[in-house]
Amino acid sequence: MSHDQSFPPPAAWARDALVDRRRYEDLVALEARDPDAFWREVAGRLDWETPFTKVKDVSFDLTDFRIRWFEDGRLNASVNCIDRHLAARGDQTAIIWEGDDPAASRRITYRELHRQVCRMANVLKRRGVRRGDRVTIYLPMIPEAAYAMLACARIGAIHSVVFAGFSPDSLAGRINDCDSRLVITADEGVRGGKRVPLKANVDEALEHAPGVETVLVVTRTGVATSLKAGRDFVYEAEAAEVADDCPAEAMGAEDPLFILYTSGSTGRPKGVLHTTGGYLAWAAWTHEAVFDYRPGQVYWCTADVGWVTGHSYIVYGPLANGATTLMFEGVPNYPSLSRCWQVIDKHQVEIFYTAPTAIRALMREGEAPVARTSRRSLRLLGSVGEPINPEAWLWYHRVVGEHRCPIVDTWWQTETGGILISPLPGATTLKPGSATRPLPGVKLALVDADGRPLEGAGEGNLCLTDSWPGQMRTVWNDHERFLQTYFSTYPGKYFTGDGCRRDADGDYWITGRVDDVLNVSGHRLGTAEVESALVAHPKVAEAAVVGFPHEVKGQGIYCYVTLKAGEQPGPALEKALVDWVRREIGPIATPDVIQWAPGLPKTRSGKIMRRILRKIAEGDTANLGDTSTLADPGVVDDLVARKRLEP
Ligand code: WT7
Repeated sequence: MSHDQSFPPPAAWARDALVDRRRYEDLVALEARDPDAFWREVAGRLDWETPFTKVKDVSFDLTDFRIRWFEDGRLNASVNCIDRHLAARGDQTAIIWEGDDPAASRRITYRELHRQVCRMANVLKRRGVRRGDRVTIYLPMIPEAAYAMLACARIGAIHSVVFAGFSPDSLAGRINDCDSRLVITADEGVRGGKRVPLKANVDEALEHAPGVETVLVVTRTGVATSLKAGRDFVYEAEAAEVADDCPAEAMGAEDPLFILYTSGSTGRPKGVLHTTGGYLAWAAWTHEAVFDYRPGQVYWCTADVGWVTGHSYIVYGPLANGATTLMFEGVPNYPSLSRCWQVIDKHQVEIFYTAPTAIRALMREGEAPVARTSRRSLRLLGSVGEPINPEAWLWYHRVVGEHRCPIVDTWWQTETGGILISPLPGATTLKPGSATRPLPGVKLALVDADGRPLEGAGEGNLCLTDSWPGQMRTVWNDHERFLQTYFSTYPGKYFTGDGCRRDADGDYWITGRVDDVLNVSGHRLGTAEVESALVAHPKVAEAAVVGFPHEVKGQGIYCYVTLKAGEQPGPALEKALVDWVRREIGPIATPDVIQWAPGLPKTRSGKIMRRILRKIAEGDTANLGDTSTLADPGVVDDLVARKRLEP
């Protein structure tokens, strides 16, 4: 199959898009001529209680470091996402909630959203939450997750949403890192017909998070949960006692909006901090431009609110634009493989945004489950989270979109707050597998190992040479780590951790992480996290974890494990270790392969040579490269021999 096909915007798109070719060129020209004017336009879409006069104050120089956008402006994110829409579209649906059970769905208008968010904000205040306090949200995909985020924003509290698939241990670590004194959870979550014991997980987490004083428990299934007197409260009972109006705090543009933990190549997950004005402006502007969002359209992003995609493109971006955003509790293959397409038909979804791993999983099941549905409402498709292979792209385009819908392959990160590289559907010629071009205002560079920028076509490390409003501002409680992680590798530049190729047309092709971060089904995981979970097991002496290409997940998790002296490897222990990691981190970290390793390849200074372990995991044992620096080259032969013995 030829992969050098390209797809110019369909005629109707080229003619009618919000950002057509002309508008795109105007934006690029405006940014080049008068950057402040361009950024004023981006941020001008928000309602500012006090308009900003300063646009940008940025230096990536470590001796004089600062990132500030619109800093003398004041605004409130929940007002921008709710109140300002009430006059014109109070009765329009803000959130369509589609339950795990196809018979369960609800529509929440902007007016209803306002009442619900105000109530939750008042409950938080009554329970002692003040401006600047951190609130941890551990909820399934129910409207209360959005209410909770917006309620925090309303009173100036900083939310930290923890994905409900994370283990009690992971939850405890995230609660402690930001000193949350209040946690919002649900009795249970429901996904794919299965119950997830969220309140029980919180109880377990709190054994190791002594700072938590209050737990609010939203009723999802109504199952009996144990409530600790004085600490745990049923949310609905609390909400019944407060008013459904709550004044909004005027926040500085640079005041924190939320913390979101994400994995890095070393150590524990980092608390990525986003601020109010720049983040919201960028989420809203990109949501409109990339998805060509028009009032009244139904838009569906399948992410979970526990990830940044859910923050920016289920909640903040769409609601700031007055959109109708669909929130789906379930999974793509339950109760049938047609589930996504049935939801699209049921709610007449026009824009659908999902991850390559979901597309690949559905592609494996053939075209019939798609063909059974209409999908006539669809006009645009999106992809996010990992590189999309051209086969999956072409299937998405042909089978799901019936050649009619452009695909926007959007590259970004938790750290970037919003999309940075993406086609604009009315202006960009698409190439399957390429995220194409940076958005206007986004300054990319590809650099070689020494930090020298590459000109023209070539491959290198992807950096940003200047700021954009949605950029993270710091790592919570660890500004040094922020500077170290992102700004010290290539001085003066933000380093993304991704490798990237630029072709002769100037289009970008992300090749994946160049650090020790894994991308498993679009979820980010540090190899170090999985390793530390493994070595916490009483029988494990040492572990090294690498990624390997996986047909559906993109990357799988390959673990080399050295047992303590006297311990016997075998299938029972293998299963025990897999379960152990799932319990320590969560099901997203489930190891795909455990290989017993009597020794690991190390340099004479004791550093594990992951390059070699990656090659063995990929099965590319003929090209192990230079092994002469190893302390004991025999270790490698042994690992290769064992790998061959495995099925
Ligand atoms: C990493 C960021 C962006 C929100 C979801 C993930 C990879 C993301 C793409 C894409 C190729 C992509 C990168 C990036 N990634 N989108 N369209 N093409 N790779 O956010 O968990 O912070 O992960 O996901 O490797 O660095 P995240």
